Amino acid sequence: MKHDVLHPRSAPVASATTTPAWVFGAKGVLAGELMRLLDLHPTVALRGAVSRSEQSLESAHPHLESDASTCSAEEARAAIVAAARAGERPAIFLALPHGESCAAWKALRSELGELAARVLVVDLAADYRLASPARYEAAYGHAHPDAAELDAFVYGLVELNRAALNGATRVAAPGCFATALQLACVPAARAKLLDATRPWVLHGITGSSGSGAEPKPGTHHPWRHGNLWAYSLGGHRHEAELAQALESCSYAPPVHFVAHSGPFARGIHLTCALPLARKVTSTEARAHYAEAFAGSPFVSVLDGGRVPDLRAVAGSNRALVGVDVRGEVLTVLVTLDNMVKGGAGQALQCLNLMLGLPETAGLPRAGLGVC
Ligand SMILES: NC(=O)c1ccc[n+]([C@@H]2O[C@H](COP(=O)([O-])OP(=O)(O)OC[C@H]3O[C@@H](n4cnc5c(N)ncnc54)[C@H](OP(=O)(O)O)[C@@H]3O)[C@@H](O)[C@H]2O)c1
Repeated sequence: MKHDVLHPRSAPVASATTTPAWVFGAKGVLAGELMRLLDLHPTVALRGAVSRSEQSLESAHPHLESDASTCSAEEARAAIVAAARAGERPAIFLALPHGESCAAWKALRSELGELAARVLVVDLAADYRLASPARYEAAYGHAHPDAAELDAFVYGLVELNRAALNGATRVAAPGCFATALQLACVPAARAKLLDATRPWVLHGITGSSGSGAEPKPGTHHPWRHGNLWAYSLGGHRHEAELAQALESCSYAPPVHFVAHSGPFARGIHLTCALPLARKVTSTEARAHYAEAFAGSPFVSVLDGGRVPDLRAVAGSNRALVGVDVRGEVLTVLVTLDNMVKGGAGQALQCLNLMLGLPETAGLPRAGLGVC
């Protein structure tokens, strides 16, 4: 692999054009995926895998083929400060639980002082996704612990916010369901196709990797395999990200989103039934989506009659969108890999834009073919 920490015996790969990266939460699902993707990246090289545990990464991530050890948050902070002081532009990925990301960034920021301006931050948790402290408090049940910093973060859904991400220094990568929900609803909302007075009924199914690396009853194989159940019936936190995006198109519809746990490891399948405000044909509706995603290499709007599936997106940074109209209802289907387009891949896509690179750098469009 192409980095200092995971191959300590080899000479560090560094050049004026290499961006050194630190991944916090190294033993986690998204950190493992991020390190896999960084291995393919032409100019971003992993400098530190930051973990609470001193064990090698091998047990958590055998796919990375590494016997290297991790570093502590204290060691990482010292190395990041030194890199910034030496004139580098360190990039940090916070693949930490909600709340821990904010704490990690606050600790690093205070050690960096004025050097903080040199550091590129991509948060994969929910801590900086909602611009309004009131919306954050309503969704997460407590006051935002770093509200003054919210304005510094740009929302990282590239396909809907590309211009703001170019050259950004702080990015909040969207949630996995939130990514699918926005790709499904925002193009039709921007085109004013939808009726905001009737409920928007949205059903999403996620794979078990969405629940993180820690084993839980909901990810236990005998319970999950061959099974399917709904959760968060009272409202899913990712609805707040959709509401934020719809507000920017002057929409505040009654959204009825039900999330489900599916019997697979990777992937999200979303089905949206959206009430139309006027008569629209399937061809017309599809043309609006095709236009919205023209110039977006990672979103494909399928031709009529084709439906997205999980197999086509597993391991890929692509999202597939299917569009169809029957009567007064617009059906939009989205599939994506929660670990890639819904997580690590999207974070790296954001960093590419932050660095002024092509958004595709180092990212797979082709999927695994079998999930
Ligand atoms: N999984 C997905 O599909 C997905 C998609 C989009 C966004 N996200 C978000 O991205 C973040 C990372 O997700 P993930 O699925 O990779 O989570 P995860 O597997 O649970 O990994 C999080 C890692 O953070 C570290 N950590 C530090 N402090 C911790 C604490 N107090 N409690 C538990 N872990 C702690 C742990 O790594 P060490 O043991 O090495 O310290 C842990 O493995 C989360 O905020 C999640 O909501 C997840």
